Amino acid sequence: MKRFISILLFCLILKVNSHGMSVVFSWKQISYNFDGVLYTKNSDYDRTVNDNIHFEDELQEAGKFFIQYNNVPIGFEVYGDTVFVTVPRRRHGIPSTLNYLKLSDSCPILRPYPDVASRTLVSVYRPRVDECGRLWMVDTGLLEVPGERKQIQPPAIVVYDLNSKRQILRYQLKPTDLVDERTPGGLTFITVDVTSCSDTYAYITDLATNGLIVFSLKERDSWRIQDDSFRLDEGALNFTVAGNCSPWTRVINWRDGLFSIALSNRDTTNRRTAFFHPLVSTQEFSINTAVLKSSRQGNINGQVRLLGTRGPLTQSGSHDYHNGVLFFANVAQDGILCWNTRKPMTPENVVLVAQDREKLVYISDLKVKGDEVWVLVNQIPRFVYATLDPRENNFYILKGRVQDLIKNTKCA
Ligand SMILES: *[C@@H]1O[C@H](CO)[C@@H](O)[C@H](O)[C@H]1NC(C)=O
Repeated sequence: MKRFISILLFCLILKVNSHGMSVVFSWKQISYNFDGVLYTKNSDYDRTVNDNIHFEDELQEAGKFFIQYNNVPIGFEVYGDTVFVTVPRRRHGIPSTLNYLKLSDSCPILRPYPDVASRTLVSVYRPRVDECGRLWMVDTGLLEVPGERKQIQPPAIVVYDLNSKRQILRYQLKPTDLVDERTPGGLTFITVDVTSCSDTYAYITDLATNGLIVFSLKERDSWRIQDDSFRLDEGALNFTVAGNCSPWTRVINWRDGLFSIALSNRDTTNRRTAFFHPLVSTQEFSINTAVLKSSRQGNINGQVRLLGTRGPLTQSGSHDYHNGVLFFANVAQDGILCWNTRKPMTPENVVLVAQDREKLVYISDLKVKGDEVWVLVNQIPRFVYATLDPRENNFYILKGRVQDLIKNTKCA
């Protein structure tokens, strides 16, 4: 009996778990449901699918419609009981780049959004829902297959109304928003800033050619901003993931610049602070959104604040804001960092609130939803430098309560 109780206690402790995050979905490999037709293993090009977008011509791999191993989720978003999952086209054999599933699904099989027949997007990274029930994203228009990069169509901002499931905007970015042919592949993150549903701005980071694109919905216009703070820090190159102890681990020297923008709540004059950082950096910067909205000449010189440094191994991708606390997807430590923005940004005030050498290996996207932090984990360095083991769980969506994560830390 005593033994039973201790096993029970052990299990309870495991369930509450060390890092405050619990698994919502896990995948060994990605499968799709196309109107009841299941794609759970490699399939040749399927002529029964009413296919508005397919890349048969580009496919060297004998007309493969679905190459399961190549499907790596990178971005996500949560809206009610719907979870969107994106699979950017960085390899052949990806049948749908924007997908969804329901929180109640017992098997996390992806379905194309809005439906099979309306697949017109080439490649989407990290979509975001705004306060007006709209889903925003950048379609990079790029087939990013190594050695065979092909710009299928110009990059565009695409917005869906989530009630009607209709596409309500496709805004093609202007040539002046882009630096060169590398730029579209860098447009992997969008932040939406709603004053009203018609007076809405979007900020798109460009991690490839170090810029920020601002879009005004009201004016249907966009412009590009450059600043030195968008550039990676050479001194923060070369980090590892998975705790440096897996056989496949190697030094990551990706040169990603400006990655993520997180917005504070509004002040009394409706202004917000935009917090931002390059991925290859341990620093954090901020700027007032009023400056971004008015800087059509592209120069924000003297308006950027360097907030401080988070400390060693704090390289981070996505970040998001919850009542004065920022949460960071900390790729270099397989964890989540927090920082209370009311305190000076110093390494002592930046706290590793979750860490897991398996389930948090490369948090590719992080979102605050209500009072919860949600993350999508994809081990992409392992995919790029070694191989995933299809018999193990490779991809996860996890969530944790803000209060649980920051309890008794300097972020509380
Ligand atoms: C990163 O690695 C490269 C190649 O090994 C090296 O030249 C560079 O000095 C390293 N940078 C840092 C900050 O460690």
